[in-house]
Amino acid sequence: KKADIGLIGLAVMGENLVLNMESKGFTVAVYNRTVPGIEEGVVERFVNGRGKGKNIIGCTEINDFVEHIKTPRKIMMMVRAGNAVDQLMEQLFPLLSPGDIIIDGGNSNYEDSNRRVIETEKRGFRFIGTGVSGGEFGALNGASIMPGGSQPAWNDVKPILQRIAAVAEDGTPCCDWVGPGGSGHFVKMIHNGIEYGDMQLISEAYFLLKHLKKMDNEAIATVFEHWNEGRLHSYLMEISAQVLRHRDKDGDYLIDKILDTAGQKGTGKWSVINAMELGMPLGLIASAVFERSLSSDKNLRVEAAKRLAKDRKIDTTTDLSLVDDIEQALYASKLVSYAQGFAVLQKASDNFSWNLDLASIARMWRAGCIIRSAFLNDISDAYQASEKPKHLLFAPKFAAETAQALKGWKGLVITALQAELPVPALSSALNYYLSLTTANLPANMIQALRDFFGAHTFERIDMPRGEFFHEDWTGKGGNTHSGSYNV
Ligand code: 6PG
Repeated sequence: KKADIGLIGLAVMGENLVLNMESKGFTVAVYNRTVPGIEEGVVERFVNGRGKGKNIIGCTEINDFVEHIKTPRKIMMMVRAGNAVDQLMEQLFPLLSPGDIIIDGGNSNYEDSNRRVIETEKRGFRFIGTGVSGGEFGALNGASIMPGGSQPAWNDVKPILQRIAAVAEDGTPCCDWVGPGGSGHFVKMIHNGIEYGDMQLISEAYFLLKHLKKMDNEAIATVFEHWNEGRLHSYLMEISAQVLRHRDKDGDYLIDKILDTAGQKGTGKWSVINAMELGMPLGLIASAVFERSLSSDKNLRVEAAKRLAKDRKIDTTTDLSLVDDIEQALYASKLVSYAQGFAVLQKASDNFSWNLDLASIARMWRAGCIIRSAFLNDISDAYQASEKPKHLLFAPKFAAETAQALKGWKGLVITALQAELPVPALSSALNYYLSLTTANLPANMIQALRDFFGAHTFERIDMPRGEFFHEDWTGKGGNTHSGSYNV
């Protein structure tokens, strides 16, 4: 009997995807490399353990594995992003038949996926780079799956990928075709960037409730549970409450024993790098990435606190509206973060001719993935409206909500800074909102300075756009000026 699909890489995500596929009626061939002393007997352990008695074909040789899959073959790789993917593809190429499909489900860099689509198609095969979100649980029970790459391959893989995807409340699977090239991985990258932003925002809310209100873990969990019943309803909010209530084996709150240094594997950083490359603001996610970096240098912070803020005393507040203000600030900042993220997606789509459907992307994120939330329904609705909003905050619902949240949002950021409590994401979002809604920014000063010291030229408000001028500011300048090109 031949398998409907093959999967390489039996770490936790890979194993769970196999079990998910098998439970939906597919026969799956599995393979894992053997590295003496490091990775040994992985396939055997799986087929005799969690995979026992199931329609799973365990293979310890890669050619045997390929032979066991129906053509056109669908081979999904769940291996570490980077070189491992290229090495594996090199091993697969000589074994494949024309039209076979390689699916990379790791967190690969989208530029690698762009390249891999070309390299694979050149050889007569097809390549799909897909985002898979939802962690272990999602992989087993339904993930959010964001495939992009060789478009003609979509029809072949669709019946499997949509069956193993999470299902949104309205019954649609959280998996649809994203676009060409590395667009699937680009979309997953922005998903992860938003995930960084959401987590930073939640951590700031936790910090403020803890220090300004002197609430204990149980009380904060109760606030989060309450918020989770409203417009902030989301998976991350839900598990934040669970984290706060969780006790370790000594009966203590585990959260209080976890070192405050955040790790990162790179997708948040890539989101910011790519936003910069596209010339797009992604300030909230950037603040989240930088805050993780700052958090990781614990020793420096401990020393700085001792040297520079010895006498700091955080004043608690009795302000009754504080909890409500945090909710307002959190919601408005979340709106800003998603608006920034989706604007980057739109820009990438325009630049790379991907023709991304933002409403469809929002729909794929409604269930299964880490940032899943009710709020993504509203975003999808906004992008589906007959008149697509130029900016997410122009959508009538969101425009009204931010206007209404502004008072509490401003008040909260002021209170937090006054108390010397850092709120990098909440304040970054507020600054973005204020800059966005300021018709005349002080960038005229920047342009004047650039022209003064470097003859970089400027446009004038009394002249048509696109005409560039240079001023001889000191009377001693020459006639040459630099070009007006922009990166
Ligand atoms: C998901 C997650 C996942 C990601 C982890 C770790 O969508 O299931 O985004 O893909 O790898 O969250 O990310 P960091 O280590 O960078 O926080």
